[in-house]
Amino acid sequence: MAELRVISLDEVAKHNNEGVEKSCWIIISGKVYDVTKFLNEHPGGEEVITQMAGKDATVGFLDVGHSKDAIEMTKEYLIGQLPESEISKTETTASKTAAPNGKGSSAFKDFTDIMTSPTWTNFLIPTAMGIVIYAIYKFIFN
Ligand code: HEM
Repeated sequence: MAELRVISLDEVAKHNNEGVEKSCWIIISGKVYDVTKFLNEHPGGEEVITQMAGKDATVGFLDVGHSKDAIEMTKEYLIGQLPESEISKTETTASKTAAPNGKGSSAFKDFTDIMTSPTWTNFLIPTAMGIVIYAIYKFIFN
């Protein structure tokens, strides 16, 4: 993947749905998203996002338990990432994800896992359950 543009917190803060031509940028998991055009399409409504315009929306985003599809959709709006040194200043990193290497930890794990895991693992659990159920069935009826 191409290097992401590095965007500072100060710059993100300008895009608070009022400044810089009413653009709306949010931060999720250290990444910067321009959701200006997505606002009126958001199934959860515009307001939940505009409240977080120019700010870190990771906690809100994760709390909702967005679907895998929703997480995939975020990629379309990705425009950059915070500088390493500023990731630790954001709300989420301060409270939940202060990993020593600054790369974030468990609070982001679900999000990061879904973004990076190969899809075959998604079949592993159902397949294993199928095998176990089949084995039990065989055991009982033979
Ligand atoms: C690029 C960013 C975002 C994308 C692509 C996105 C996408 C979606 C999608 C597809 C849904 C439908 C349900 C689902 O599939 O999970 C949804 C629902 C929702 N989203 Fe987002 N969302 C984003 C950011 C946010 C943020 C920052 C917040 C709050 C801080 C938020 C709050 C909600 C809420 C409250 C719902 C409704 C949940 C419900 O009705 O059960 N979303 N979003």
